[in-house]
Amino acid sequence: NNRTYSMVKPHAVADNHVGGILKMIEEGGFRIVALKKTQLTAAQAGKFYEVHAERPFYGELCQMMSEGPIVAMILEKENAVADFRALIGSTDPAEAAEGTVRKAYAKSKGENAVHGSDSDENAAIESAFFFSGLERY
Ligand code: GTP
Ligand code: MG
Repeated sequence: NNRTYSMVKPHAVADNHVGGILKMIEEGGFRIVALKKTQLTAAQAGKFYEVHAERPFYGELCQMMSEGPIVAMILEKENAVADFRALIGSTDPAEAAEGTVRKAYAKSKGENAVHGSDSDENAAIESAFFFSGLERY
């Protein structure tokens, strides 16, 4: 319960916000356990967001998440999942609090700069989707 999975979404990578976002994450008290830049195929994005398959925005989400490289990471902090979701803020940037990552870098509800796992179970599943056990330090 002290780790979460996150990624910087393609629009934020394309706009050179990786450094700014990592700065907010580290200053928020998270330690980077694993980190890499990679790109998802639409099929891989579909698998990652499978829980949203029935939602109306699923197609748009898979397209958006595969349109360019992402930066994937595993983060460590006490109470990591909940604290990270607090640090990134609401899904919709119009509702994101001042000082949150999404307030600073999200462009819309879809292009909202970062992903953060929503449970310890999903953090473990999502981390294993991107990183092997030998890539965690
Ligand atoms: P994640 O950390 O990315 O999982 O975001 P979240 O937990 O705040 O939101 P949720 O899991 O409900 O939705 C997953 C992702 O789908 C969001 O981060 C958005 O990128 C996208 N999304 C959610 N709602 C909408 C929507 O109404 N329209 C569009 N275009 N995208 C949406
Ligand atoms: Mg979510």
